[in-house]
Amino acid sequence: MNQILSKKQLSADVYEMVVEAPLVARARKAGQFIILQIDTDWGERIPLTIADADAEKGTITIVFQSVGATTLKLAIKEPGDCVENILGPLGNPTHIEKFGTVLCVGGGIGVAPLYPIVQAMKTAGNKVIVIIGARSKELVIFEERMRNYADELIIVTDDGSYGKKALVTEPLKEFCAASPKPDMSVAIGPPVMMKFCEKTTAEFNVPILVSLNTIMIDGTGMCGGCRVTVGGETKFVCVDGPEFDGHKVDFDNMMLRMRAFKEREDTDHHQCHIELEAVK
Ligand code: FAD
Ligand code: FES
Ligand code: MG
Repeated sequence: MNQILSKKQLSADVYEMVVEAPLVARARKAGQFIILQIDTDWGERIPLTIADADAEKGTITIVFQSVGATTLKLAIKEPGDCVENILGPLGNPTHIEKFGTVLCVGGGIGVAPLYPIVQAMKTAGNKVIVIIGARSKELVIFEERMRNYADELIIVTDDGSYGKKALVTEPLKEFCAASPKPDMSVAIGPPVMMKFCEKTTAEFNVPILVSLNTIMIDGTGMCGGCRVTVGGETKFVCVDGPEFDGHKVDFDNMMLRMRAFKEREDTDHHQCHIELEAVK
């Protein structure tokens, strides 16, 4: 049992929770994630990145967007409630070294998993440029936290309600075209955003790390749910990733696989809303 200690709503559907998980908090590194199960009888397992942790207090911070049945069930939990099962830290930590200038691009909820990487890249002595993208102003998260570590912070929104009206690929392209060009880039966000960040950086021969958000079930390399093709080889995101060389990832195949259970997910989400209305 892992008690929820605090809950904050960051934007329309995005929540930040601090949860008790002492062993995970002590062992975690930037880029790693947990798999949680709200209740072990019927609850499905979902992966969430460890956005932050406090080893002394024994807590981890998760930031999640309520997009379907399980994240909706989590979003209505309150401090004092428990999450029955937390498994982690899972996945390989981000490869951190002093590259020089590192461009970090986060889209939507991807900004939360990007944060520990920005922290770690800065601590390793890099110049860190952060680009945050969101659909509109209300959906921009982690701005202040990023400012504490970023040498430069650029915000873009689809509708122009905050920062520049642009997609993240626009400032990304400008930085890649500048001289000297960045030594490394990292992109985390919706698969389609990562796909186009890859295309943009490829044009300028800038390396890019992407953190893949495939469907996961066991998180131990046994079920094959998180299978992706990287450099023509089959990889499992849970044990071989979640980060990969973006220039080698087959994003189209990954996006196709992520839509495999769409019909069932939508039915469950709808049912979940009905059940919640009934108990109100
Ligand atoms: P559903 O309606 O069931 O699904 C909505 C969409 O989420 C699906 O179409 C599918 O693309 C994806 N999804 C569904 N089930 C799973 C599953 N078991 N595993 C992975 N994806 C699934 N989201 C956040 O908001 N914050 C995070 O920090 C975060 N970190 C992640 C880290 C990793 C390594 C991975 C793989 C995913 C991460 N995600 C994160 C995505 C998150 O796991 C999904 O949004 C969540 O599982 C959706 O569950 P649902 O039942 O609410 O929605
Ligand atoms: Fe089962 Fe990766 S989640 S193999
Ligand atoms: Mg689900």
